[in-house]
Amino acid sequence: MNEQSYGRIKVVPSSGALGASVEGVNLAAGVDDATFEEIHRAWLDHHVLFFRDQRISPAQMTAFAEQFGELDTYPFIEPLPGHPHVIPIIKEEDTKFNFGGGWHSDMSYQEKPCKATLLYAIQIPPRGGDTLFANMTAAYDALSSGMKQILDGLKAVFTASKVHGASGVYRKADHPMKMQQDDSKGEARFLHPVVRTHPETGRKALYLDLPHVERFEGMRVHESQPLMNFLYQHATAPPFTMRFQWTVGSLAIWDNRAVQHYALNDYAGFRREMNRITVQGDVPY
Ligand code: OGA
Ligand code: MN
Repeated sequence: MNEQSYGRIKVVPSSGALGASVEGVNLAAGVDDATFEEIHRAWLDHHVLFFRDQRISPAQMTAFAEQFGELDTYPFIEPLPGHPHVIPIIKEEDTKFNFGGGWHSDMSYQEKPCKATLLYAIQIPPRGGDTLFANMTAAYDALSSGMKQILDGLKAVFTASKVHGASGVYRKADHPMKMQQDDSKGEARFLHPVVRTHPETGRKALYLDLPHVERFEGMRVHESQPLMNFLYQHATAPPFTMRFQWTVGSLAIWDNRAVQHYALNDYAGFRREMNRITVQGDVPY
């Protein structure tokens, strides 16, 4: 899709791999249907979109998110008072733990993982705190036909256990968010295909994120690890990635069916505060 196909917005690609900035939209004023259609199309084309210099309240962010679909409820962090779908992602000056600090796809451990994540920057460190994105469609396309055959029909066991389970890393983490412990959700396990078909574009993408995957179906953990490690390294190799530098008022929206992302932890001594909303997705196939 080229840029001429957008009449109401300007779409500026961020890298050769994925991502685009959208210009000419004031999210606080609301997005009409025709403009939303273009935003949605750009989102499917580029997998992650960025809107700079927005000033949106949690209610305005919620209204925009609802245009993408029904909103999800994040099980593990208490939402903002009065905004049940908005969770704060905060790292204080002296916090060591970093939310999202490893390549992953959001909530892939659910039976129906969220399709979209919206992240809005309220406070940003003077340098650092960028987010990396990797294109899982490009990563899949670049595999050999032999490897694609091996992956065809392969499923993996997804779980939040390593992060949010009874002995998960978040139990000991020093971050300031109010956690909601829910072991039935933290320890649940679901099988998802390692190669998923995007329900809106029909394109195939690698779907495997190490923090949330335990092993392949029918295999032991140590049997699964070598192939999991290869796929993870392959999928997050530099040619498939981009890096977004936040400024206050930036809003990113990414497609968890087509990207993985990674929050950098390189701003010790500074505070970073974001609001996040997730939009419900379907059972991956
Ligand atoms: C998230 C996440 C990335 C960041 O909110 O899902 O991974 O840079 N955040 O804060
Ligand atoms: Mn995330």
